[in-house]
Amino acid sequence: MEKFYTTTAIDYVNGAPHIGHAYEKILTDVICRHFSQRTSDAYMLTGCDEHGIKIQKTSASVGMQPQEFCDMNAAKFADAWKLLDINYSQLIRTTNPEHKKIVQKIFKKLVEKGDIYKHSYTGLYCAGCECFVSEKDLDENGFCPNHKAKPEVVEEENYFFKLTKYKDAIIKHIKENPNFIVPSFRANEVLNQLENIEDISVSRVKSNVSWGIPVDGDDNQIIYVWIDALSNYITALGYDTENPSEKFKKYWPADVQVIGKDILKFHSIYWLAILMALEIPLPKHILAHGWITIDETKMSKSLGNVVSPSSVMESFEMVEPDALRYYMATAAPCGKDGNYSDNDFKEKVNAHLANSMGNLLNRTLSMLVKYFDGEIKPEFVVDSPLFADCKKAIEEVKHHFNYYEVAEAAQKITELVDNTNKFVTDSAPWTLAKEEKWNECGQVLYTVLEVMCVVSSLIYPYCPNIASKMAKQLSYDLSTKLDDIEIKNIKVGKLISKEEISPVFLRLDSELADKSKK
Ligand code: MSP
Repeated sequence: MEKFYTTTAIDYVNGAPHIGHAYEKILTDVICRHFSQRTSDAYMLTGCDEHGIKIQKTSASVGMQPQEFCDMNAAKFADAWKLLDINYSQLIRTTNPEHKKIVQKIFKKLVEKGDIYKHSYTGLYCAGCECFVSEKDLDENGFCPNHKAKPEVVEEENYFFKLTKYKDAIIKHIKENPNFIVPSFRANEVLNQLENIEDISVSRVKSNVSWGIPVDGDDNQIIYVWIDALSNYITALGYDTENPSEKFKKYWPADVQVIGKDILKFHSIYWLAILMALEIPLPKHILAHGWITIDETKMSKSLGNVVSPSSVMESFEMVEPDALRYYMATAAPCGKDGNYSDNDFKEKVNAHLANSMGNLLNRTLSMLVKYFDGEIKPEFVVDSPLFADCKKAIEEVKHHFNYYEVAEAAQKITELVDNTNKFVTDSAPWTLAKEEKWNECGQVLYTVLEVMCVVSSLIYPYCPNIASKMAKQLSYDLSTKLDDIEIKNIKVGKLISKEEISPVFLRLDSELADKSKK
């Protein structure tokens, strides 16, 4: 595998980022960091979706110009991703002039091809979804079930995209590629939606929606957000209708595009049709993750339960984001909904990262110092059945990541750590030391340290700071590719001194989060 290209949904910047947005960026970052351990070049794109009626109205309501408002909020997203150590390669903003120019060219190409045509239309528009909806999408009160708001009746002459032309090809693609949509149980949902699709409106009249990209040659029409937004995945790479860049040729098609289940229709139907119309290869996989609730309740401004990543970090006085990353990345099985609660967060990371993993390394190194002055003697270097477990864990973790099963992969790391803890308990190196069985005692410690090198590599995508602290104390090269890991990383000789040992993760013991900070 030479390159790996992954993308996230681009967030609407009409507010600040919350833990739901963070969930997706963490998942994607963990996936990308894992594949950076398997390829020479892993590239992650994230971004901000800055056009449309929602931004236009919200910025007006706070008395700001839309661009000024977007700049302010886009900075909040970038800050949050920095705080969470999201190692993205690029953050695209749809107000970027290059993006806007290419979107206009894409639109023009589709008009020239006859795939976009003008048509008078009366429909129901949900500003929350930024799309037209049909009666059957609404609840019994005529409200959008996602946004609990009544769609507006809109009568306009708009440009329409011939989605129906691509219906059969999309159905064929989804049926012939059962792993295209991850998890595969969502593919049926999409196939059902495809049954009733119609051509879609892809522009709005400027007098109704002014904040967006004008149609080239028809200034009275603004390109409706989804063509603008979806195109980000290729415009970011320098796609051009006439002369695609080297970067585009290198990275496209995406290996996996990560999105929430609520926008799967746009990605597995609209996006595929646009790509087919542009005659561009399709992404290899679409990963539709579930939704994160707070204390089992849907997050909403009106309920006042919106949790931001920075508020969690502040309330637990966290200096590094590893614990939050780990918790979110393992919050739900692939594609299922997950939940955040302060209590559960604290309990889980204390148990997994401090008690099981961190302590294991800390007490093993401490025993090595206590009994052997931190030195690995040649007699300690033996083979162990745990090394076969390490190889197996590496393969299992890789296997889960092949299906983007991020939480399931973490479970395999936990199992390896648990087995190793059991090995220490069963071998009781402290008793061996008391009995002066020095070689046997040293062999147990050596074995655990070898396993911990592998654990540091495997945990790295989730907890990069913890992993690098582990690797440093083990004198292990964390940049080793997964396929190159030999279980022979601990060198004979002095490994560590007492002063160099430090806990890789401190328990979260601050009192439960102060709600007022959220
Ligand atoms: N701008 C569109 C996406 C365009 S992609 C070309 C959008 N923006 S959003 O800000 O509403 O959502 C961004 C991403 O965050 C989506 O994938 C969405 O599913 C995800 N989430 C928003 N709230 C969420 C939770 N509570 N839980 C998990 N993910 C959630 O949609």
